[in-house]
Amino acid sequence: MVALVPGVRIRVAGRWNRTGDRSDYCRVELSSKQPGQVATRSPDSEGGLALRLRDVVCRHGRLAAVGGVDLDVAAGQRVALTGTNGSGKTTLLRAVLGLHRQVDGEILVGGRGSRSAAEWAWRRRACAWIPQRPAAGRFPLLAHELLRSSGDGGQALSAAERLGVGALVDRPLSSLSGGQLQRVHLARAVGCVAAGAGVVLADEPTAALDFAGQEEAAELLTGLPVTLLVVTHDRAMAARCDRVLEMAAGRLREVG
Ligand SMILES: Nc1ncnc2c1ncn2[C@@H]1O[C@H](COP(=O)(O)OP(=O)(O)OP(=O)(O)O)[C@@H](O)[C@H]1O
Ligand SMILES: [Mg+2]
Repeated sequence: MVALVPGVRIRVAGRWNRTGDRSDYCRVELSSKQPGQVATRSPDSEGGLALRLRDVVCRHGRLAAVGGVDLDVAAGQRVALTGTNGSGKTTLLRAVLGLHRQVDGEILVGGRGSRSAAEWAWRRRACAWIPQRPAAGRFPLLAHELLRSSGDGGQALSAAERLGVGALVDRPLSSLSGGQLQRVHLARAVGCVAAGAGVVLADEPTAALDFAGQEEAAELLTGLPVTLLVVTHDRAMAARCDRVLEMAAGRLREVG
């Protein structure tokens, strides 16, 4: 169901795209909650959720974009993921989110998989997602609607104000500049955390930001009380993380 009447529940879930992946749009869920009302909390996310990956292989058709990745991230740890273009970083993050379907091996978030519908629903609440290429959507989603879809519109809106995009929230996402849109997604992630997400998966969240914005975003993301896995080529962001991993040709190695 899709409707753009304020207060009406909108759920775009479980849609599959041509490659067989769950579409990123499935993460847009608007509800009749008022700002400040908190969505159902992930019960054990306080301070972050642990990640455990075992022999994870992700394919795009015949291409193995991620090959045999093992990774443990402790609850609350902040991990920067770097690596060359096309090395599999985005694919790996989307697999952790449960959006990429062609996956072998084991991916646990907070000790839970994502194979059943119930597990996947839990995974979506447990993980906040800042996409590398934010999609404006197939319908004219407004910025405040994206913020409300976090589950805690009040916190997301406050974060949007802190990030300098509070005045833009009545605009369609498609009308925002790249940096403005990235700030709105950062603010949405804050709302997701306020609503109970225990992991933030951020894919180059500062790539479109100016210098001041990069600093602000790095401080904001690394200050959240969650487990953070952030793809970044930004040294300031990496320096604020506890660990730095590098991906090359689908394989991970620890570099700092
Ligand atoms: N939908 C897709 N269909 C086919 N191949 C894909 C698809 N998405 C990604 N790939 C391929 O999978 C590999 C890994 O892509 P991915 O986007 O994960 O890389 P990345 O490390 O995030 O790169 P970048 O730093 O450029 O964002 C690349 O060779 C890419 O061309
Ligand atoms: Mg990428």
